[in-house]
Amino acid sequence: MRKNLLILIPLLFAFLFIIHILDNAKGSTNYVGSEVCKGCHEESYSSYAKSIHAKKAIAGSPANRGGCESCHGPGAQHAEKGGGKGGDIFGFGKKVSGKEKYSKCLTCHGESKHVVMWDASKHRSADVSCDTCHSVHSTKEKNLKAKEPELCYSCHLDIKVKSNKQSRHPVKEGKIKCNDCHNSHGAFGKKAVKADSVNELCYKCHSEKRGPFMWEHAPVEENCLNCHDAHGSNHSKLLTRKMPQLCQSCHDWSRHPGTIYTSFETFRGTATSGKNRMFARSCLNCHQNVHGSNGPSTRGKRFVR
Ligand code: HEC
Ligand code: HEC
Ligand code: HEC
Ligand code: HEC
Ligand code: HEC
Ligand code: HEC
Ligand code: HEC
Ligand code: HEC
Ligand code: HEC
Ligand code: HEC
Repeated sequence: MRKNLLILIPLLFAFLFIIHILDNAKGSTNYVGSEVCKGCHEESYSSYAKSIHAKKAIAGSPANRGGCESCHGPGAQHAEKGGGKGGDIFGFGKKVSGKEKYSKCLTCHGESKHVVMWDASKHRSADVSCDTCHSVHSTKEKNLKAKEPELCYSCHLDIKVKSNKQSRHPVKEGKIKCNDCHNSHGAFGKKAVKADSVNELCYKCHSEKRGPFMWEHAPVEENCLNCHDAHGSNHSKLLTRKMPQLCQSCHDWSRHPGTIYTSFETFRGTATSGKNRMFARSCLNCHQNVHGSNGPSTRGKRFVR
């Protein structure tokens, strides 16, 4: 009699264990609906309710596709247990990989035109997930956690430093945004630039530099960044170097027409101040059309007016 009972005990445990597994499996796939969540998460509910995601009028919105649980996954087990942290519900916590997080968003946003290049994005590969920049529970514009450029500066300190330099694109002044030139979600261009090449990007706003010119200056056609820094510089006009060193970094100025060095009359200077004047006046005084020119033959060819 006692022997039989001893056999029954492990059987009983095995039975309870199976029930437990079945119960878990059931719990982890059951949805309860947003109203149940509301009961315990008043604040999260109301921020969600104000957001675009809660709009019934938008066909593919979470409101029409499972509400809270479209992002957080099925919540029956979490609700039954009275809530708590630790895996019953998808919480976008620090321990979860970026991939797991952005995959939740991509179930709906995978086809979204703003996010189509996400796979190629350095942000994706660096584990900067959607929720790093967006808080679905924030009511700010585009659900952003902070405004541009502060949002970006929190990680891109080197760009922040440049944006405070004497010459800069007016990002600080709010006239232009990082995302006018970049797509935070990735883009075809190198460095997530919103154009096929750097020059194409610059032409969007500086169309007069596109030409066509009869006399092109090779480095300009090649890449504007040969002479300019896109973000900021201590030299005027976003130049990467001071003038005339910028020009001299490529041009051996000793090859310059002999007249300038032999006859100071050209500059109406004295023998001692002539050379200095040459530097002070810079190359641009004569070569005014460094971006290209349409002037008559030799003058145009040398970008001189
Ligand atoms: C579109 C996706 C999405 C929807 C829909 C959504 N959430 Fe969230 N929720 C998130 C993300 C992402 C986080 C991570 C924190 C953040 O980014 O703000 C989060 C965080 C939370 C947190 C943790 C809050 C904290 O401060 O740690 C709670 C609780 C929560 N959500 C509840 C809800 C409830 C309740 C609903 C429905 C009323 C809901 N969520 C709808 C994406 C969503
Ligand atoms: C019976 C109350 C209750 C219900 C119902 C409930 N929760 Fe919770 N939830 C909690 C508590 C308590 C916590 C732990 C909060 C904490 O520790 O800060 C929590 C935590 C969370 C978290 C954070 C989890 C983490 O790992 O950080 C999310 C997300 C969340 N709940 C979403 C939901 C969603 C979505 C629903 C509806 C499907 C829901 N909750 C239903 C009580 C509840
Ligand atoms: C169930 C589908 C669904 C899920 C899941 C989802 N979204 Fe959305 N989201 C939408 C729809 C629909 C819109 C409105 C139309 C649009 O902009 O594509 C939207 C709009 C947005 C917007 C634009 C807000 C605005 O004010 O213009 C952002 C940002 C956004 N979602 C971020 C996220 C993030 C981050 C996640 C993951 C945490 C996420 N979404 C998960 C469906 C979803
Ligand atoms: C590095 C920060 C960052 C990350 C990471 C990020 N976003 Fe964005 N997102 C932005 C900014 C900034 C904007 C506003 C762009 C603008 O104003 O042109 C935006 C805009 C959006 C919009 C609205 C587009 C529009 O103009 O209507 C959607 C939708 C969106 N993001 C979804 C996502 C999704 C989904 C992910 C993850 C796959 C994601 N974002 C990751 C910064 C980010
Ligand atoms: C949480 C930190 C973080 C935030 C916030 C952030 N970034 Fe980034 N960003 C990164 C990391 C990490 C990389 C990858 C760096 C690398 O590979 O050298 C990166 C790379 C980039 C690149 C280069 C992309 C490429 O293809 O090489 C650009 C452009 C960029 N970020 C712009 C932005 C803009 C614009 C914002 C604000 C909307 C922003 N970032 C916000 C962390 C961040
Ligand atoms: C006027 C256009 C423009 C603006 C505005 C702009 N960028 Fe850039 N950014 C560029 C170009 C062009 C590159 C270089 C692309 C290349 O090397 O091919 C670049 C490169 C980058 C890189 C890669 C690292 C590097 O230094 O080359 C990061 C990160 C970056 N930008 C972040 C930002 C952030 C953050 C903002 C806003 C504060 C911003 N950018 C504003 C045009 C711009
Ligand atoms: C989205 C529009 C936009 C794009 C793209 C753009 N710029 Fe600009 N750029 C501006 C604005 C706005 C100013 C400020 C003009 C003003 O204040 O009159 C400016 C000013 C400049 C200046 C003069 C700066 C000074 O200190 O006076 C230079 C040089 C310049 N941009 C070069 C470039 C280069 C090189 C590119 C490509 C990498 C580029 N820009 C792309 C909008 C743009
Ligand atoms: C060979 C060097 C060089 C290259 C390459 C170059 N620039 Fe410049 N850029 C200059 C110099 C030098 C100035 C300053 C002119 C002045 O102070 O009068 C300047 C000034 C500018 C200015 C502000 C003044 C103005 O003329 O409007 C803009 C905008 C500009 N460049 C855009 C571009 C664009 C766009 C490209 C690429 C298509 C480019 N630059 C390529 C040397 C260059
Ligand atoms: C990144 C290198 C680079 C920089 C910087 C540069 N140039 Fe040039 N420049 C060239 C190249 C390459 C050519 C074409 C040379 C050739 O055809 O023999 C050229 C051609 C010229 C010519 C026509 C030469 C000829 O023989 O017809 C003049 C004039 C000129 N540059 C002036 C300038 C001035 C002024 C500056 C400074 C604002 C400058 N360059 C900056 C690379 C550069
Ligand atoms: C006083 C006016 C003046 C100044 C200042 C000046 N140039 Fe010139 N430069 C000219 C003229 C005029 C020519 C054309 C000569 C010819 O056609 O034979 C020329 C020709 C050139 C050429 C093409 C011939 C060669 O030597 O290969 C280059 C390159 C050049 N200059 C670069 C520069 C640089 C770099 C500076 C600044 C350090 C500069 N120039 C300053 C007037 C000037």
